[in-house]
This record gives sequence, structure tokens and C-alpha cells, in this order.
Amino acid sequence: MAEATEQWTLKRLLDWTNDYFEKVGSESSRLDAEVLLAEALQCQRIELYTRFEEVPPAETLTEYRAWVKRRGAGEPVAYIVGHKEFYSINFDVTPNVLIPRPETEHVVVAAIEAAKTIDDCPIRIIDVGTGSACVAIAIAKHIESSIIAATDISTEALEVARANAAKHEVTQQVRFFTGDLLDALPDGSKPVHLIVSNPPYIGRDEIDTVEETVLKYEPEMALFGGEQGTEIIQRLVDQSVDMLLPGGKLIFENSPDVFDQCLEIIENSPLTLAESIKDFAGLRRVIVAEKQA
Ligand SMILES: C[S@@+](CC[C@H](N)C(=O)[O-])C[C@H]1O[C@@H](n2cnc3c(N)ncnc32)[C@H](O)[C@@H]1O
Repeated sequence: MAEATEQWTLKRLLDWTNDYFEKVGSESSRLDAEVLLAEALQCQRIELYTRFEEVPPAETLTEYRAWVKRRGAGEPVAYIVGHKEFYSINFDVTPNVLIPRPETEHVVVAAIEAAKTIDDCPIRIIDVGTGSACVAIAIAKHIESSIIAATDISTEALEVARANAAKHEVTQQVRFFTGDLLDALPDGSKPVHLIVSNPPYIGRDEIDTVEETVLKYEPEMALFGGEQGTEIIQRLVDQSVDMLLPGGKLIFENSPDVFDQCLEIIENSPLTLAESIKDFAGLRRVIVAEKQA
């Protein structure tokens, strides 16, 4: 930022940062600036609007400038501030977990809808590839009678997941297991009513289409689902068949790039397609598949 005699009020800082982020190609320049400044001031973003003329203390300014520089270099805001909102819940994130995406909220909504049709108590659920545990915790908070086993192959991701479960006081409801898909579960685990997942589903053969900053900053293990993008999903479907109760549902996110292949995987499995769900951008995003009752 250029030195100037004019004071760096919050408004001036936001305007300057917005312009700078726009120039370096951020698609959410104003929001990024506000989130970083609110974090530096330890206040709610909305409060900035009532404090426009305030001049922040020097140490706040130093911290903010360092963050602006990192964001300007492409680092996602969520990793800089260390948290991200998902389903109106604030989750801690580190570079060891995928940053929760709004489209994944459709998995939570579908699970809550499915739970309404289940009379059993508790409702047993597995979240496969839990990452920050955003899906598992959002479900735990909204389906009171649920108990959830959450798995991930990354021990580092599960550290973040456990911290989030403690922060949101669901450690009695959500248990974590390290390992490959459903093999991570203890021997003799009971079949479940629902299996939910936002698995890695980008094909290595479409790596060129992935945003550079995603590739640079987000965990590779969270992104790639094999050469075609559907290899992990194929294994998830195969393993889910035995772990679902009759009438149980597998609810999983994928992308328009692999949606048809995913439908084919379901067609060629003992499961039947119950629902295809589009995200808010109108893109085919979530598949609900059912085991025969
Ligand atoms: C796309 S991220 C989803 C994270 C989180 N559920 C979310 O929606 O933000 C996929 C997650 O699956 C995990 N993962 C990748 N391969 C796995 C496997 N074979 N078994 C279990 N988890 C796996 C990754 O470590 C990552 O945390």
C-alpha cells in the first residue's frame, strides 16, 4: 500500500483492498477485503459499516496488510483467517482440509429430508471423507436423534474434524475413524440408515480445468477421485450396498463433469436412483440412491 498523508480509515482500507483484489483477479474482492478486515479487528463483518471512519491501531494494520498480501498471491481467505461458514455454522479450517463449499450444503439438506422418513432412533449415519467434518456436524446439529461415524483417510484432516466436533459440542454424537472409505469402520459395525459423502471426484485427466489456487492450496487427497474422477465413487457405491439397511440411502456429491458416469454406476449397482439434485447454479450436483426395502 502506498504511503499517504491521508489516514487509513476502515473505509479507505476497504476501498483500496477491493481495487487491489480486483486487479489481481479475485471474483469476490469486496467480500474478501471485508472478511480479512473484520478478522483483523476481531469484529463481525457487518460492524465495519458502522465504523468506516475509524483508524485501526498500527498492529492491526500490520496484520491486515500481511493477510492482504497473502490473499493477493492467491491464498484462499478461509485458510488465512482459519475458519469458514457452512450451513450457518463456523468451522475451523487448515490447509489439511478442503474449504467447505456451499454446494455441499445440498448433501446436508438431502440427509435431513431423508431422516424425516425414518422412525428408528437413533438414526445411524456414516459420513465418508469427512474433512473438516462440516457435513457430519451440520447433520448432527439438525438431526438430534442421529449418531454419526465419520471417516477420512487423512489423519491430519481428522485432527481438524475432531476439533470442530469439540467446538460444536457434538463429540457424543459424532465419532471419527481413520482409513479408506468404509473400511475405516471397526469390524462388526452395524448397518446404517444413511451414508453421506462429498468424495474426491475430480479426474486426473481434467487437472487442466481445475483453478490454479485450488490445486496450489487445497489438499490433493481431497480433490482427485482417480484418473476419471469416479474411481472412489465406484468403490463407495460398492461398499455402501452392504452397509446400508434395507431402504437406506446413499447421498453423495459429485459434479456435472462426472454426473452421467455416476448415474451409470448406480444403474449397474443393486441400488436404485431416488433423486438427482441440482445446486443453486442449476448444476447437477447430488445423487440420492436407495437400497431396496
Ligand atoms: C472433497 S473432500 C470433502 C471434505 C468434507 N466432507 C467437505 O465436504 O468439505 C474429500 C475428503 O475425502 C478424504 N478422502 C480421500 N480419499 C479417501 C478415502 N479413500 N477414504 C476416506 N477418505 C478419503 C479426503 O482426505 C478429504 O477430506
